[in-house]
Amino acid sequence: MRMVDLIAKKRDGAALSSGELGWIIEQYAAQAIPDYQMSAWAMAVFLRGMDAHETTALTLAMARSGAMLDLHDVAPLTVDKHSTGGIGDKTTLVLAPLVAAVGLPMAKMSGRGLGFSGGTVDKLESIPGLRTALSGAEFRRLLREVGLVIAAQSGDLAPADKQLYALRDVTATVASLPLIAASVMSKKLAAGADCIVLDVKYGSGAFMRTPEQARELAQMMVNIGQLAGRKVRAVLSSMQQPLGCAIGNALEVREAIGALRGGGPPDLIELCLILSGQLLLMAERADDEATAHAILREALASGAAWAKLRQMVAGQGGDLAYLDEPTRLPCAPVQIALPAPQAGYISAIEGASLGLAVNALGGGRVRKEDTIDPSVGLVMQARVGDQVYLGQPLLMIHAPSMAAVEAVVPQLLAAYQFSAAPVAPPLLVEAVIVL
Ligand code: URA
Repeated sequence: MRMVDLIAKKRDGAALSSGELGWIIEQYAAQAIPDYQMSAWAMAVFLRGMDAHETTALTLAMARSGAMLDLHDVAPLTVDKHSTGGIGDKTTLVLAPLVAAVGLPMAKMSGRGLGFSGGTVDKLESIPGLRTALSGAEFRRLLREVGLVIAAQSGDLAPADKQLYALRDVTATVASLPLIAASVMSKKLAAGADCIVLDVKYGSGAFMRTPEQARELAQMMVNIGQLAGRKVRAVLSSMQQPLGCAIGNALEVREAIGALRGGGPPDLIELCLILSGQLLLMAERADDEATAHAILREALASGAAWAKLRQMVAGQGGDLAYLDEPTRLPCAPVQIALPAPQAGYISAIEGASLGLAVNALGGGRVRKEDTIDPSVGLVMQARVGDQVYLGQPLLMIHAPSMAAVEAVVPQLLAAYQFSAAPVAPPLLVEAVIVL
């Protein structure tokens, strides 16, 4: 087979066979296909799409590009969660310790920032010392000892996704339904969890813009999981405005710590309860949602979830002093308000523009090899539906310099729309997809 022929086949709109997709992934993981050809192929997939058969074959090939963990010798049942990406989405940082604290071992493989959206691994790495590059053996040990582990795609777990994910980030090929489905599900299948909850996001701060697209993606991923013998449910959640207030790596870690210590924005807590509740139901630890939520609320209120995060951070080498005193986490030298350009009700916030502004401040990558600045970001001071007066702070900009602030202000202002009439806040959750 020749990669150039397979690129042309997809460019011309034909479906690739399982054998062809298996070959592409095997060769790419072995570094035998260069990034420029893989980029051209990813763009062809982005533009032409894939049918359900191709998407499943791509997912399985990517999952099998490395080890497929079987964790049953460590824990009889493990759970996992994944989001398709959204602005300010720090759910994992709260949900993972929460479900582990109620006795569901969580073994999770996470990603870095992707396109305009942040990634859990980058967020966690703003805690000094914390390692996410874990070997399979460490992953198992931490799962056994702590009941919670969050790793980057290191070593031999879904290496093809690791490579392709970084390539998509810088080649404008992120928002493709089959590429997202294969990326998410390959990691989930390789990491070995029995019960998986997917947070499939839609809206201006997500890769899927409409609930219909999110539903299609969710259904595809739930089907793939079921074919592979896992229990999978998906929650369709809104990204019509950022989740919580903080956007940016260290800022989001701070917000998540707040949520585990009795504070935290209500939308973040609610989404964590809904997603975690689905895990408790799948794992048969609760008969209904109300019981699941009561168990989870107790673990938040008692401090058990917070204690579990501390245990996880310590297990992965992180310095607990930064967790206990989050003001010590990386802090940007310039912090300045973005004033409302007019009075009125906020009717829309374009999340992707805020995410791109955070990237421009240094919080994301332009090239694969870029390092990011964990301290930069935005903290929302007003939400969709809020009434603001002229000059009222819409958000705080955390930046490396005034020049960086000035460069992003026009983009930030363009992200807001105002209305003279009151506006209802958007719905947080559209639907739960259960097969
Ligand atoms: N999360 C992933 O792991 N992959 C994607 O493509 C999008 C979100």
